[in-house]
Amino acid sequence: MSAPAGGSRPFLNRRLAAFGTTIFAEMSALATATGSINLGQGFPDTDGPAEIAEAAVRAIRDGRGNQYPPGPGVPELRLAIAEHQRRFHGLTYDPDTEVLVTAGATEAIAAALLALLEPGDEVIALEPYYDSYAACIAMAGGVRVPLTLRAPHFRLDVDALRAAVTPRTRLLLLNTPHNPTGTVLTPAELAAVAELAIERDLLVVTDEVYEHLVFEGSHTPLASLSGMRERTVTISSAGKTFSFTGWKVGWVTAPPALVAAVRSTKQFLTYVSSGPFQHAIAEALALPDTFYETLRADHLAKRDLLADGLAAAGFEVFRPQGTYFITTDITPLGEKDGLAFCRALPTRCGVVAIPNQVFYDDQSAGATQVRWAFCKRKEVLAEAVSRLGRL
Ligand SMILES: Cc1ncc(COP(=O)(O)O)c(C=O)c1O
Repeated sequence: MSAPAGGSRPFLNRRLAAFGTTIFAEMSALATATGSINLGQGFPDTDGPAEIAEAAVRAIRDGRGNQYPPGPGVPELRLAIAEHQRRFHGLTYDPDTEVLVTAGATEAIAAALLALLEPGDEVIALEPYYDSYAACIAMAGGVRVPLTLRAPHFRLDVDALRAAVTPRTRLLLLNTPHNPTGTVLTPAELAAVAELAIERDLLVVTDEVYEHLVFEGSHTPLASLSGMRERTVTISSAGKTFSFTGWKVGWVTAPPALVAAVRSTKQFLTYVSSGPFQHAIAEALALPDTFYETLRADHLAKRDLLADGLAAAGFEVFRPQGTYFITTDITPLGEKDGLAFCRALPTRCGVVAIPNQVFYDDQSAGATQVRWAFCKRKEVLAEAVSRLGRL
């Protein structure tokens, strides 16, 4: 056989060599192969509001967004995002200079990190991490510095955060409500972050895609704290709030210079995306309060259904304050290795979950944790609970 093109050097570069395939691909393939209920990947099994789907169809039929939309996003959506930030959080952003529409939160995270980091800059991020964070920091040549949220309470350790800051720290990467632990940062924790960011002149990128899925306490955007607006890039997305994860409509809100930096990178990633869907999400953001209240109440009921079922099946359950994920510990079941447990679970009882250890640098901190998504129909969750009862 002839040598592969490029000689013996691996194709995937060193920065990304550790990020070959994601656990989601492996577990979703297992779910399909075994006909299991997939509580692994975080996507709803029902679509969002029919009138919003109709709005997307109308936009396509009316020729709105079928060709490249404006780089920063269609004006109607930027206006709706600014209005949403005002309505829910009392934050004022100029839709023309302080809002940027992206291909989901995923692109916003990538564009922000690629724009704001120089190679060698340190980024402090809460671990367990949402999986794209580590890869995007690596792509930007940054150095990730984990700040571990530890069971059972997964609180932010303010002293550890302070100790993690060095002269090379450029940026804090936050996520609240936090996937996978369900932690919602408290006003006191956010105040400590703000104090440190201001004192050490750090930028903050904050991923708030679960802002409307908070069951205990309330969501406070970091940008709303005094002195933080000017140094904070806030990221959110329509995927989680409106149950249209495939539309990939996300956004950034930040002061003009930060938005301009992120836009510079974003224009060379996708340039633009999701034209007609941008029009539909503009309508979605304007839905009445009852929509948001129902979303929360539905997910609260689902959280409790699954959490109670997992507890009855013998897991230690860390009931989340927000998001649509539950983290559990498998130790009470006599298990020690979350990855092995998740690989065996589909054959044992026809359910798929995700081992949290893949979200940690310090894998021992999450070795016995397993994550379950509850953004599924109640009957699906009830069936999963009944199957888990066989453990
Ligand atoms: C914390 C977090 N950030 C970002 C995303 C990705 O959002 P989007 O689908 O809008 O790219 C997810 C999706 O699971 C997430 O959990």
